[in-house]
Amino acid sequence: MAASRGGVTVRVPAKINLQLSVGGRRADGYHELVTVFHAVSLYDDVTAVPADDVRVTVEGPQAALVPVDERNLAVRAALLLARRAGVEEGVHLHLRKDIPVAGGMAGGSADAAAALLACDALWHAGLSRDDLRELAAELGSDVPFALLGGTAIGTGRGERLTPALARGTHHWVLALADRTLSTPAVYGEIDRLRAGRVLPEPYVSEALMQALRSGDPQSLGASLVNDLQPAATSLDPLLEQTLAVGLEGGALGGQVCGSGPTVAFLVGDHEQAMDLSITLVAAGAATQVRRAHGPVPGARIVEPGSV
Ligand code: C5P
Repeated sequence: MAASRGGVTVRVPAKINLQLSVGGRRADGYHELVTVFHAVSLYDDVTAVPADDVRVTVEGPQAALVPVDERNLAVRAALLLARRAGVEEGVHLHLRKDIPVAGGMAGGSADAAAALLACDALWHAGLSRDDLRELAAELGSDVPFALLGGTAIGTGRGERLTPALARGTHHWVLALADRTLSTPAVYGEIDRLRAGRVLPEPYVSEALMQALRSGDPQSLGASLVNDLQPAATSLDPLLEQTLAVGLEGGALGGQVCGSGPTVAFLVGDHEQAMDLSITLVAAGAATQVRRAHGPVPGARIVEPGSV
C-alpha cells in the first residue's frame, strides 16, 4: 500500500467482554462497571503518514458507515496527542477496517488506540506507555484496553485495567448483524429496564476468573455474563434468535458483545468453529460469520512489508 511509505502502521485487535457487570449511572453520565475484556484476532490496521493537516480515509466493506471528520475517534486521538506533545505537524491516517463498525467490538476505540501509537512514533513524540494510557482514557472507556490487549479486568467506566491470569487460547465464532446498535442507546435502555430497582455493586465473577485460570473452555462458556444483553435484545429482538441458534448448535457459551449487535460464541476448537459458522449462516441467524481466537496482544507497530 502506497500510504505505508515513510509512514507507520499499527495493527490493533477487536475486543469482546467475557463479563460486563453494569452498576448505576454516575453523576458524569457513565455507568460504574466491572468488565473482563478479551482481545480477539480481528484487526484494524492504521497507517499514519505525514500531511499538512489532520485527516482520515477509510477502507473496508463498512467504510461508508465511518465518519471522516472530527467525530472519528482516530482523528480526535491525533489532535489530542498533538496538543499534549506540542506537535504542530499534520497526519494522514488511513484506516483499513476489518473490525465490525458499531458492532460492540470497540472498533472505533481500537482505531483511536492505534492512532495514538502511530502518531507518537511518526512525530517522535516519545510519550511513555503511561502517558498514552492517560490520553487513551480521555478518548473513551475502551481505548486503554485496545493498547493493552490480552485478557484484563476493567473497572471505573472500563478504563482502569488489571491484567487477568488466563491460560490457553480460546476459539470464537462471531455472528455479525447487518444492523448497528448505538452504545449510548443500549445504556439508556438498561436504565429504563432497571428503573426503580436497587442495583447491586458491579462485581468480578469468581467462576469466570477460575475458568480463565484453568483455561477450560467448558467452564468459560458457562461463566460468560453480560448485563447489557437484555437491553441489546430489547432494542434488537432478532438477537434472541441468533443466540438460540448458536447455543442449540453446539456452542459452549455465547452472548452479545458489549452493547451489540455482534454475538460471540465460544467453541472448543477450529473444527467446531467451522461447524457452528455453517449452522448460523444456514439458519439465517447471521448475515456474516467470522472466526477468531483470543487472547491476542494489544496495538503494536508492524513492519510495512507485513501488512
Ligand atoms: O467511553 P465511550 O465514549 O466509549 O462511551 C460511549 C457511551 O457509552 C457513553 O457516552 C455512555 O453513554 C455509554 N457508557 C456508559 N458507561 C460506561 C461506558 C460507556 O454509560 N461505563
